[in-house]
Amino acid sequence: MKKTILTGLRPTGNLHLGHYFGAGKTWCNIQDDYDFYLEIADVQALTDNFNNPEKVRQNVYEITKDLLAIGLDPNKVNFFIQSQISEIAELTVFYSNLVTVSRLQRNPTVKTEIAQKKELFGNNGESITYGFLGYPVSQAADITCFSGEVVPVGEDQLPLLEQCREIVRKFNSIYGETLIEPEQLLSTTPRIKGLDGNDKMGKSLGNAIYFVDDEKTINNKIMGAITDPSKLKKDDPANPDICMVYYYHKLVNNEENISKVCSECKKGERGCVQCKKELIDAMNEFLKPIKEKRKYYDEHPEVVDKILEEGTNKAKEKAKETINNVKKAMKINY
Ligand code: TRP
Ligand code: SF4
Repeated sequence: MKKTILTGLRPTGNLHLGHYFGAGKTWCNIQDDYDFYLEIADVQALTDNFNNPEKVRQNVYEITKDLLAIGLDPNKVNFFIQSQISEIAELTVFYSNLVTVSRLQRNPTVKTEIAQKKELFGNNGESITYGFLGYPVSQAADITCFSGEVVPVGEDQLPLLEQCREIVRKFNSIYGETLIEPEQLLSTTPRIKGLDGNDKMGKSLGNAIYFVDDEKTINNKIMGAITDPSKLKKDDPANPDICMVYYYHKLVNNEENISKVCSECKKGERGCVQCKKELIDAMNEFLKPIKEKRKYYDEHPEVVDKILEEGTNKAKEKAKETINNVKKAMKINY
């Protein structure tokens, strides 16, 4: 019997290389080994985009197509839309009693996000909504609803998983052994840096390459990437280890070219413009099969609809089982 894995994404924008190397690639590699549920977390996206429902709706499709394009196979992975599984919302209400407000306020992930969302929640988080503060509870519902045994996460999501485990333990201790305590599958890939050398690749930072970027956009982005600032002339020797162009060569180019870039750079035998042009070629080559797949799904929206519908139906089956067990344990199975 395969173990059940569950993960989710907020549909708030397209996938970029940081998502791929940080998470998506691993998901592709393990999709054969698990009973895989992939949640398009539109309800969670609405907790900080409640005033922009159109954006969330559109990105449900965008993100699904991106995930299919990078190689997740709908025959192996159940894609489903969170809002269509009402059982998750029910569980969220039940679990709300098992969490204190102060515990949610102390959750490091929540704290960081509140600080990032000053416009929405005020400088000191004084305008935070009940829904946003409670999203870790809803995420615990996401995981337990499908009896998720394994949750692939990055470092930043660990506090949410810990909170989920606390809820599970509390539930089981009060109502009897019902829920499964999930374990983490911690990402081993370091966070991917942006083209500007920033530690994080992100939409708001404008330093990301997206799978939907066209060739001209990619060209401009790479030409603007940060190199070794001490290199002024073409034949100055430089340090590739502080250069973002080399960093991206290492992600998308082959071994032979990577070592060529490295040694020529150190010896002052390559110019940065040439080096960037070679990276653009390597990047386009890397993106080609992904973009071809993406194009297929763009041209066949009915296929995407069907994938989401079938995945959601399957998720619904599993959710019904869980909600029955939970209601029985809580003595509300009338
Ligand atoms: N919180 C996650 C994020 O912002 C998305 C998510 C929703 C999730 N539900 C989940 C992740 C369940 C893991 C498990 O990216
Ligand atoms: Fe970076 Fe290439 Fe210039 Fe070296 S030659 S600094 S690796 S862009």
